[in-house]
Amino acid sequence: MTELNVTENKGKLYGLGIGPGDPELLTLKAHRILTSVPVIAYPTMESGKVLARAIVADFIRPEQIEIPMPLPFSVERSSQPYYDIAAENIAQHLADGRDVAVLCEGDPMLYGSFMYIFNRLAHRFDTEVVPGISSTLASAAMLGVPLTYRNDVLSIMPATLDENTLRDRLAVADAAIIIKLGRHYAKVRSILEELGLYSRALYIERATMPNQVIRSITEVDPAEVPYWALILIPSQTNPQ
Ligand SMILES: C[S@@+](CC[C@H](N)C(=O)[O-])C[C@H]1O[C@@H](n2cnc3c(N)ncnc32)[C@H](O)[C@@H]1O
Repeated sequence: MTELNVTENKGKLYGLGIGPGDPELLTLKAHRILTSVPVIAYPTMESGKVLARAIVADFIRPEQIEIPMPLPFSVERSSQPYYDIAAENIAQHLADGRDVAVLCEGDPMLYGSFMYIFNRLAHRFDTEVVPGISSTLASAAMLGVPLTYRNDVLSIMPATLDENTLRDRLAVADAAIIIKLGRHYAKVRSILEELGLYSRALYIERATMPNQVIRSITEVDPAEVPYWALILIPSQTNPQ
């Protein structure tokens, strides 16, 4: 009697990059998987805001099972138990043979919440990651600025870094993108002033979304900066 190979009956885990906000920036592959899997999981903020789902809301069918994954969007709060719970919810569906697509805003492997699910489940279940257009790169397109030329080095850094580290990293960057701005905006602004980067820095929030905002750094109210905002400092090189 042949033994049943249990892995054959397990579902497949997908990490789906769904782009920065404009649904038309979804890849054909992400669209195909999104519309064919029986289960979709996505992060939700503690405030109840759900960005990833909103991006692809028009493509989700009523018969698809949805798993909201509540996550704390704050470095002060340990997110480990939240990911443990989300991963186990997802694992249950996979173990029962249902494919699960985890939606991830931008690209899943660049500061994506999917990475924490990947680290917990990829060794247990067949897993495929579908790259997405990152907000960092989409922002350069929306701002209409070339980001890096030739030997330029691009640094992507979170505004959540402490002041000294942020200053040191920015001081040596040819081009930089500072993400996770939110309430760290004032700190970032004063470092940019100190380093003489103020005039080169460009601010964008909700890039590619209908409510996208591009503002001069001087006009940004630090109290109003959302989580979905970044500062981009393009290369100074300007070859013809
Ligand atoms: C946890 S990171 C996720 C990055 C994502 N995986 C990507 O590839 O774009 C979240 C940060 O990305 C930036 N971000 C994401 N989407 C954005 C958008 N549409 N416009 C501007 N910034 C965005 C914000 O700085 C936000 O705090």
